[in-house]
Amino acid sequence: MSKRQFLVTSGLPYSNNRLHVGHIAGAYLPADIYVRYLRTRGDNVRFICGSDDNGVAALKSAREEGISVEELTAKYNASQQESFKGLGIEFDIYGGTHQPEFVKTHERLSQAFFLKIHDKGYFTKRTTSQLYDTEAKQFLPDRYVKGTCPTCKSDGAHGDQCENCGRSLDQTDLIDPVSTMTGTSPELRETTHWFLRLDQLQQPLADWLRSKKEGAGGVRWRDIVINQSLGRIDAEGLPERAMTRDMSWGIPVPLDDPDAGGKVLYVWFDAPIGYVSFTEELGQRLGEGEDAYKNWWRNPDCKIVNFIGEDNIVFHAITFPAMMLATHDSDNVQGDAGEFQLPHNVVANAFVNFKMPGKDEEKMSKSRGTAIWIEDYLKDYDPDPLRYYLTAIAPEQQRSAFEFDDFIARNNGELLAALGNFVNRTMTFAHKYFDGQVPPAGNREQIDLDQIQACKDVAKRTADALEEYRFKSAQEEMMSLARAGNGYFDNTKPFQTRKTDMEACGRAINVCLQTVRTLTTIMSPFLPNIASKCRDMLSLADSAKKWDTACDTLVDGHSLDKAQYLVQKLDPLELSAK
Ligand code: 2FM
Ligand code: ZN
Repeated sequence: MSKRQFLVTSGLPYSNNRLHVGHIAGAYLPADIYVRYLRTRGDNVRFICGSDDNGVAALKSAREEGISVEELTAKYNASQQESFKGLGIEFDIYGGTHQPEFVKTHERLSQAFFLKIHDKGYFTKRTTSQLYDTEAKQFLPDRYVKGTCPTCKSDGAHGDQCENCGRSLDQTDLIDPVSTMTGTSPELRETTHWFLRLDQLQQPLADWLRSKKEGAGGVRWRDIVINQSLGRIDAEGLPERAMTRDMSWGIPVPLDDPDAGGKVLYVWFDAPIGYVSFTEELGQRLGEGEDAYKNWWRNPDCKIVNFIGEDNIVFHAITFPAMMLATHDSDNVQGDAGEFQLPHNVVANAFVNFKMPGKDEEKMSKSRGTAIWIEDYLKDYDPDPLRYYLTAIAPEQQRSAFEFDDFIARNNGELLAALGNFVNRTMTFAHKYFDGQVPPAGNREQIDLDQIQACKDVAKRTADALEEYRFKSAQEEMMSLARAGNGYFDNTKPFQTRKTDMEACGRAINVCLQTVRTLTTIMSPFLPNIASKCRDMLSLADSAKKWDTACDTLVDGHSLDKAQYLVQKLDPLELSAK
């Protein structure tokens, strides 16, 4: 396969909180697996993320924690970086839309983007009624208002989105709105804002989404993404949306207009531009210059892939692409890159809920104490079992639930029993009976040849699944090889032949070692730490990370390094006591 070029992004987490397992399962772990895989293929990849610092969420939390919003966003940006590092999620750059080292570039690009859309005539300046809190004496940003969703009628919908049905909302649509700042009922007052003419962009947007539904560019987008974007357009059409807000924290509206004073860009306008501004910053840090980001954002040979959680679909499949289309010089979406090019794929995952034994599933929530924080997890456990579990329950099609019992059962019954055990028994035999060297392959019989063929088949099927963004199936494929390895070990019985027929015993251990060799490479996107231990045990060079080497043969007599434990058994009682 020739070298390809990818820019992979993960949704920018708000820097007003720590990260929990639900975040990781949605936008970060699958992206990291994908990037690791692409790198093993030798593709040219940049992996971009950073914190979403602007917007009212940060202001609200800063007020609650009694610190400045700058301190708050710096604190959580650092905490997020620690969590990602601990889990082996390795971005090429971790920025932040208002972090001191990033905000200048981010502001320049966001404002330029806004002005370009303005010049193209895709904004309408309009005075509308907004909710105003008379006690706090300010207009209420969307996240400070709650009420009943006008569509699904669930309570607790926010002013910009109902998390129950996923609809994006206008705060004035809420039934019985309440200010979460003061708990009072806000009143309507007039204010002026700039609205993006989504109605005018609807047709090219729908055409583009339809092409993605049909597999344009060789990829069929997930149903969850198409349903929430194209499905929405077909059902309701797109209304104009305000892209400015009455606030002081954020990116100032760059217009020489008295009505723009005291206003900032809507956080969902500037946040996705963070992907671009962090790419620019990375290019600068690598000494490639200010314009190097265009090689990623305006280069049709580069595929942009956005990994996100389900609550971000509308913004990544409608709003951000619409913003990009608004900068195009023509309706020719494919031929005109505009400011930045549209994504090749938007890979969304549903939410991971939390489940206690005997209780119903609940949404992960800080206030209800139903979130499992990464910082806490990492104090007691290795990263790879969590990576394994979150991929095993990956909510690729629908919501799934994190259950402690299931986490332990899968760690002990799958990761340890299938993978850990297979590698361990193979290494133990090689050291104990063959001086820590690969025994001769000898004259292979059919059962041996079948197992060697299984290595090739599984490596291929794992790659196919990864190419198609089916991470859960890909991991299942990889694990099927560990299970096949155990089956082969049981059937060839080296534990008996070592007493009766050392040549047969060596032949079996050789095949087992070849299987471990394949596993070492193909597990690496999912379980990088365990893979690294396997590479050490097999005395393999770094080049063994390359996917194409997965089925390379370990030659007879190759010296192995000492065996290491790969997976720790978890005790259910110990865990429930925590
Ligand atoms: O939902 C969230 O956590 C948002 N902060 C995601 C932003 S993604 C991007 F557009 F920046
Ligand atoms: Zn709703």
